Amino acid sequence: MPSYKKKAFCYTVTAALPYANGPIHIGHLAGAYLPADIYARYLRSKKERVVFIGGSDEHGVPITISAQKEGISPQQVVDSYHALNRKTFEDFGISFDIFSRTSSKLHQKTASDFFIKLYEKGIFEVHETKQFYDQAHQQFLADRYIKGTCPRCNYEEAYGDQCESCGTTLSPNELINPKSVLSGKKPTLKATKHWYLPLDTYEDWLKSWIIKGHQEWKKNVYGQCKSWIDQGLRPRAVTRDLDWGVPVPLQEAKGKVLYVWFDAPIGYISATKEWAATNNQDWEPFWKDPKTKLVHFVGKDNIVFHCIIFPVMLKAHGDFILPENVPANEFLNLEGNKLSTSRNWAVWLHEYLVDFSNKQDVLRYVICANAPEAKDSDFSWKDFQAKNNNELVAILGNFIHRSLVLTHKYFDGIVPERMHITSIDEEVVNQIKKRPDQIGDAIAHFKFKEGIQLLMELARIGNKYLADTEPWKLIKHDVGRVKTILNLTLQLIATMAILAEPFLPFTSKKLRAMLQLNELMWDDAGNTHLLQPGRKIKAPTLLFEKIEDTFIEQQISKLKAHNLYSA
Ligand code: 2FM
Ligand code: ZN
Repeated sequence: MPSYKKKAFCYTVTAALPYANGPIHIGHLAGAYLPADIYARYLRSKKERVVFIGGSDEHGVPITISAQKEGISPQQVVDSYHALNRKTFEDFGISFDIFSRTSSKLHQKTASDFFIKLYEKGIFEVHETKQFYDQAHQQFLADRYIKGTCPRCNYEEAYGDQCESCGTTLSPNELINPKSVLSGKKPTLKATKHWYLPLDTYEDWLKSWIIKGHQEWKKNVYGQCKSWIDQGLRPRAVTRDLDWGVPVPLQEAKGKVLYVWFDAPIGYISATKEWAATNNQDWEPFWKDPKTKLVHFVGKDNIVFHCIIFPVMLKAHGDFILPENVPANEFLNLEGNKLSTSRNWAVWLHEYLVDFSNKQDVLRYVICANAPEAKDSDFSWKDFQAKNNNELVAILGNFIHRSLVLTHKYFDGIVPERMHITSIDEEVVNQIKKRPDQIGDAIAHFKFKEGIQLLMELARIGNKYLADTEPWKLIKHDVGRVKTILNLTLQLIATMAILAEPFLPFTSKKLRAMLQLNELMWDDAGNTHLLQPGRKIKAPTLLFEKIEDTFIEQQISKLKAHNLYSA
């Protein structure tokens, strides 16, 4: 039996904690949140025990930089974006069991305890290095706090870690004429002590755990891990000289905080504890039971942290299970260009909801159908319109609408009984029966794109069935046949209502309401007797509507008006 089919004790599903210094855009949705949500919803529908963890990553230099730019405190920054992002996820139906935050007391304690455990086990190496220091502000400078001229392209505003003009990754000492962002003065070098996680000593273990042991991981993920490991790993500092973060719990480390990438993934554990405490559950099986499957959904840029650094932390700690899989996606581009917050080249989800209210499932559909699962993909407004008009409206909506309208027209909205089955009906019955396993397998293997295609195909099959059998002609001389046909199309829709739930939860809910179906679970799908004859169904309501050119043109102009690509 393939390993994914073995019954897990439970599933701990996490989605990367977004930095609480900006809103969520379609790239985030495509990279991690939508696939994670589809997976978690599917598992719940399969009656698996699952906890789906989300939250805000509230530490690190990106937050302090935003605070400095906006002239407010880091806490104010994270409070406002945590609230906005939490609402956005809720509005899009991302069904987190908890959306926590890393500035919470519980997280602070969990992260400190984690550090102490590693410290007491003698895991860390301590090194003294020289780092840039701002004398005027009496502060060490993180790479982002140093600006200077790029040695490659001579751009004068390059950051200590990267030149945003030519894209080169830099280290602060490569900058020509470095200046502190805080005082504008030339920084000096000063000695400082930090605690390092010796990734190099885990190389052999990583080789056997990932390279040998996880060959089933997605190619893009496995390939990235292999290349990191092949290049050789070096000890990585897990403490920083910064005043925003979880304080390093050692007397000798006053004024230092844990590196954000050390504390953030521990945030998954803290959030699970918080969820458990408020839901009368025990958190430990979710992180300690070897039969539990821990799955991290992240974007391409987070792979190394979730496949190498966090697992090494977990392994070094010793009490926790390791991730079963990290099904990371590649990047979603927008209209042919890389999504960029600083260039304002993005579709912000909270704005989408204002412009396209109640159309969450349209975006969920388009992004899933075009997900960057194996390689980067592109979102364009024209494609969004085409997928809505030609697929959701013309295929899915049309099939459901026609079936329900005909049932109301010929049988007053009462589910008719099924009479004699012919071979053409048999084919539909077979399709209804086999789809739940096919779609379920696709989801279990993180092939969400394939899953949604299989779902859409069911609607195509339904449309073809109606077109081939033409019940509107048969009604004049063979009512029995029409009863059978409409019974089957309604059973098909009932199964689709269940199978659509992970992908299109808002549509699934509307469908269940139309068919007057209670909440059904995955294993009910495929049953061709879900709707008993004689049961009344409601009149169809609009599921999807055509999106006109003007709306699309508005979005394209909005995008082009405020971005720096066209500057
Ligand atoms: O890339 C990011 O947005 C990070 N804040 C993701 C953190 S994931 C986890 F470790 F919390
Ligand atoms: Zn440059």
